[in-house]
Amino acid sequence: MAQRKIYLDNSASTRVDNEVVNAMLPFFTEEFGNASSTHQFGQQAKQAIETARGQVAALLNASPTEITFLSGGTESDNLAIKGIAEAHGEKALGKSHIITSQIEHPAVLASCAHLEQQGFKVTYLPVYREGFVRIEDVRAALTDETILITVMHANNELGTIQPLSEIGALVKERREAGQRHLHFHTDAVQSVAKIPVDVKELGVDLLTLTAHKFHGPKGIGALFVRKGVRLTSQMHGGHHERDRRAGTESVPLIVGIGKACELARIHLAERMQHAAELRDYLEAELFKRITDISRNGDPARRIPNVANLNFEFVEGEGLQISLDLKGVAVSTGSACSSGSHEPSHVLMAIGLPRDNGYGSLRFSFGKDNTREDVNYVLETLPAVVEKLRKLSPRLKQKSASG
Ligand SMILES: Cc1ncc(COP(=O)(O)O)c(C=O)c1O
Repeated sequence: MAQRKIYLDNSASTRVDNEVVNAMLPFFTEEFGNASSTHQFGQQAKQAIETARGQVAALLNASPTEITFLSGGTESDNLAIKGIAEAHGEKALGKSHIITSQIEHPAVLASCAHLEQQGFKVTYLPVYREGFVRIEDVRAALTDETILITVMHANNELGTIQPLSEIGALVKERREAGQRHLHFHTDAVQSVAKIPVDVKELGVDLLTLTAHKFHGPKGIGALFVRKGVRLTSQMHGGHHERDRRAGTESVPLIVGIGKACELARIHLAERMQHAAELRDYLEAELFKRITDISRNGDPARRIPNVANLNFEFVEGEGLQISLDLKGVAVSTGSACSSGSHEPSHVLMAIGLPRDNGYGSLRFSFGKDNTREDVNYVLETLPAVVEKLRKLSPRLKQKSASG
């Protein structure tokens, strides 16, 4: 019998929806025009891009003119952060200040580190044990020189949802008091299409999203830029995307992100419920069947499709590989950098002891997962954990001392 293949790594990427593929296909073949061309081929392509812009805007409660297409989440974060810094900062004087959090995606952290090298000051806010930025810390970090606050909406490892509306209200207050150069960006890569995301309710000026996290294609994302916000383009060339992002538009990918947004908007409530049911079922059953496990992050304020669990006395990587051999794809919280295995910066930021940082797994659900998928994990995982624990030097130490 062929091995089952169960994909529980939807926070890393998702299967492209058939409807999305079908919407994209004609734009590779019959409707292949360049959207900048004035003939009919070009105008058809332009029309398709504008339809997609409307679909993305509708999901975010934004206006179509506030949406810029680019290559994905990484580029969108880079454009938002460097674009605001260049347009509003006073680098030469080393006077400009940026606030972010310790648990951002590398696209944000590396963009901030790059600006630090150029003379910007950056505050990295702590997130405490539950994984949240605290509004009093944002308030305390703000100075007259702050030009940008960039705090992610949902964390990619823990799923915790940050208090963006509160930060948005604070930004509004400071702006009304005269700090006109203060801007608010969020990386919403993990929250868009997972929970309602309304740019007006959140009070953000800039928001990043990418299609491949919600059944759209890879290599296409968008940046919401509130009307009236000035930012400097990071790509020099033609006058595409209202001078924000030069380069011939990838019409098929843009059509794909548009369709994925439309489907997400229509099906959001049912997708949220489906993911939460599977996630809660998995967690509840694992807690019954395996000892010495705990949750990372906060169970109440998180996106519905992510569970990050810590398994004492085992290495997450060993668990992940063993599960992979049984056909189950999940991810560890740890990233391997240059051969040295370091627990992830997110798990370290929530103060997880280093050993526990190694023993964490992220399960992330999508619309195509079923209860049978979870049942298979429930049949498989306890035995895998038990086997690895038998080999664990830490467990042996504990039993010897206890
Ligand atoms: C929170 C977050 N931001 C940014 C990105 C990068 O997006 P992309 O893969 O489209 O460059 C990811 C992808 O893993 C992410 O999870």
